Amino acid sequence: MKGIEFFTSLEDLDSESKYLAHKAKEATAHSYAPYSKFCVGAASVFEDSSIISGANQENAAYPLCMCAERVALYAASALHPEKRIMKMAVVAHKKNHKDLVPATSCGSCRQVLLEFEGRQHQPIEVIMLGPDKKWIKAPSAASLLPFSFSKEALDG
Ligand code: THU
Repeated sequence: MKGIEFFTSLEDLDSESKYLAHKAKEATAHSYAPYSKFCVGAASVFEDSSIISGANQENAAYPLCMCAERVALYAASALHPEKRIMKMAVVAHKKNHKDLVPATSCGSCRQVLLEFEGRQHQPIEVIMLGPDKKWIKAPSAASLLPFSFSKEALDG
């Protein structure tokens, strides 16, 4: 199985990943991030090529803040439960700055992605901008979360 790949430029990625990164950037327009001033967008493509996106939503009660990835994933599940997700791109920029900054999905979002992979019996590719501004293409959430907790532990 293919491992995690790194790319110096977004241009070096496949066209679907590039498009998804572009849609994720568009989604940051709907970030509500008055506290962190860190705007994150996520865009996922379903197997029928339709796209769903999300942006981080913050709250004055900080722990209630919700990451862009989970906004997109839960919207996908609530609106299109029958569709499998093939890939997700995540990007971020500081408020009022258009340049992307490195932002790799947090552990909670990786865990939620993993649950989706289990539900749909299919991996979800993840595209994100990592340290040193290298684009990361991970073949699955599982590849980003070794020794993760999953339903198998509850069943076993
Ligand atoms: N954030 C995301 O949207 N996704 C991540 O994977 C990490 C962090 C958001 C949450 C919060 O609104 C802001 O970035 C700063 O942590």
